[in-house]
Amino acid sequence: MMRRLRRNSGIRDLIAETKICLDDFVMPFFVVEGNNIIQEISSFPGIFRYSVDNLVKEIKRIWELGIKSVILFGVVDECNKDALGSYAIRDNNVVCKAIKLIKDKVPEVIVISDVCLCSYTSSGHCGIVDNGIVDNSKTVEILSKVALNYAKSGADIVAPSAMADFQVREIRKVLYENGFDNTLIMSYSAKYSSNFYGPFRDIANSSPKFGDRKTYQMDYRNIKQALVEVERDIQEGVDIVMVKPALAYLDVIREVKNTFNIPLAAYSVSGEYSMVKVASQCGILNEKETALEILMSIKRAGADIIISYWAKDLPGWI
Ligand code: PBG
Repeated sequence: MMRRLRRNSGIRDLIAETKICLDDFVMPFFVVEGNNIIQEISSFPGIFRYSVDNLVKEIKRIWELGIKSVILFGVVDECNKDALGSYAIRDNNVVCKAIKLIKDKVPEVIVISDVCLCSYTSSGHCGIVDNGIVDNSKTVEILSKVALNYAKSGADIVAPSAMADFQVREIRKVLYENGFDNTLIMSYSAKYSSNFYGPFRDIANSSPKFGDRKTYQMDYRNIKQALVEVERDIQEGVDIVMVKPALAYLDVIREVKNTFNIPLAAYSVSGEYSMVKVASQCGILNEKETALEILMSIKRAGADIIISYWAKDLPGWI
């Protein structure tokens, strides 16, 4: 009987319960100092490090195709790193330059800036390391300065991803004190300690130099804890919450969606992209069809916003 409902593609489209559109998507970008740079790395095919000039051209190109939001990550040389990640609070750093030029050349694009320290600290950890462990208070103080730095440069949304306790509260306070009432905070509320971040750490040059991130990122055996993290962020004044990664955490996305009434983002991370990309290059999977199935599952699970490296490809696919 139900087969009637699958008779042809027109009927299947008519009754499809889940639909994705370009408005749902955010494209991540990696930005480096210099001019005329576009650099690919082997573990992350199809994704590039751009200098600001080329970044703006690429963002303009995808904007014209319908992708309206981007999230930026700065990538710096070892010589620009120190114990405090101070590069991130310089007002002329590469992320600030990128935000300003994007806002000048493609003003309507929504610019989200990742707020973390792992790309800027000599330890490669997401916060300030003191006696071998990440010091939460010192980390939060610096993160709020980083967020303010990007808000001043013109970011529409700041996205703290360090999994520091009270990072949202402190960032919200500092933004208010400085008159940035309209800057949104999208927190990586439930960010798991995941094996799927490998290609990101290669391209962002952000692997921890010792240990791992298990003392601050979540244990993938837990789901109730994710609800506590999200609830805290809501109490601290977050605007958008996030679950990350997405594909191995669809149950977490669904649970957060069912429990809270707040916009929910899901980050389909670098490993999710690369494993399909590389399998497709080996002739094992069809990239487009597999990617659409994954992205649709994230939407079906309840995500309102999907951060995906396939965002750039979607205008040609849907
Ligand atoms: C920074 C950060 C990471 C990712 C986004 N922000 C890496 C990490 O936590 O090690 C990973 C995203 C991806 O894999 O695509 N803390």
